[in-house]
Amino acid sequence: MNLPPFKLERFFAKYEFNTEFLLCSSDCEAMSIADLLALEPDAAQKFQQVWLGYTESQGSPALQREISKLYETIQPDDILVHTGAEEAIFIFMNTMFQNGDHVIVHLPGYQSLTEVARGAGCDVSPWLAREENNWALDLDELRHLARSNTKAIVINTPHNPTGYLMSRADYEAVHKFAQEKNLLLFSDEVYRESEYDAAERLPPACDLGEHAISLGVTSKTYGLAGLRIGWIATKNKKIYDNMASLKDYTTICNSAPSEFLAEVGMRNRQKLVQRNLDIIKHNLMVIDNLFAHHTNLFSWVRPKAGSMGFPRLLKGNIEDFCDDLVRKAGVLLLPGSMYDDSHNHFRLGLGRKNLPQAVERLEDYLSKNK
Ligand SMILES: Cc1ncc(COP(=O)(O)O)c(C=O)c1O
Repeated sequence: MNLPPFKLERFFAKYEFNTEFLLCSSDCEAMSIADLLALEPDAAQKFQQVWLGYTESQGSPALQREISKLYETIQPDDILVHTGAEEAIFIFMNTMFQNGDHVIVHLPGYQSLTEVARGAGCDVSPWLAREENNWALDLDELRHLARSNTKAIVINTPHNPTGYLMSRADYEAVHKFAQEKNLLLFSDEVYRESEYDAAERLPPACDLGEHAISLGVTSKTYGLAGLRIGWIATKNKKIYDNMASLKDYTTICNSAPSEFLAEVGMRNRQKLVQRNLDIIKHNLMVIDNLFAHHTNLFSWVRPKAGSMGFPRLLKGNIEDFCDDLVRKAGVLLLPGSMYDDSHNHFRLGLGRKNLPQAVERLEDYLSKNK
């Protein structure tokens, strides 16, 4: 399989562990194992007893059970646990897509969602989110993109990198369209439960029928990226079984300590969500303030969910700006070119506790580089 370099990952490989302020992370603030275990009185002691043998390849039954509580109609057996959402994307696309299939993908977006499909031999049509529409997708465009060999639609809401949250009406229309046309709907929901207004939360795709697959992970909303625990949820047994078979050739099963810790995290997910949403909402006020001071330099569509936004630099070139900023001020922003965006956007992360200090550093840089 021929895959191009993952631009964003190569960019992070250069900067992530040697830059003082990551102002473009997609995940929420993480925590230590000790802090996670402290969420339950007996968890630390139980963690000591975790058996370091192979685990169930579909995920430990206790973890499947906790994850299934995210969904309305999903049973624990409908959850297939993976090593991160990334493995689940890889396995889904390599089992369900074939050479010559056509796939429609929500873009700009997380690179695997297009490149793994291309690597599996698919022709990919971008379904473009546009800033002038507040990053909303156009349903008429979807209808025009569909072909006789279309196999699937891939969406991501809440969205990386824009923070766009699809409306309930549009979401239902996408499902209806997929069902009418007999298409699979791969719904990347790794930022679900981070909606700023919980009333706007969409139902998980997997609850809406066998055409749909929901993708989840502990990394983003719950801030536990180091566990590398992701999953798919689907009522479609054929998809589930095919994916389980391929997983025997990748990771076989998940890390036992991670599964235990993920179980604790998911059992206490409301607390993690609250903590992370508090950080995001505080950070948003700081960012609103920053952009209010620099209306001639930045524009943006305020996100409705998630730990990211995709503002635009109004003067100069975004790659040069990011490069100079990280070298002179130690603040990392992610140029939109990592998403093949050519309109001077950049990714801004909202989930880290040190955002106010990072913004102070950015303000200082801007005042010196007028
Ligand atoms: C939309 C989206 N899907 C999937 C993933 C993969 O998640 P993980 O790295 O935790 O496996 C990411 C990570 O950035 C993402 O943003």
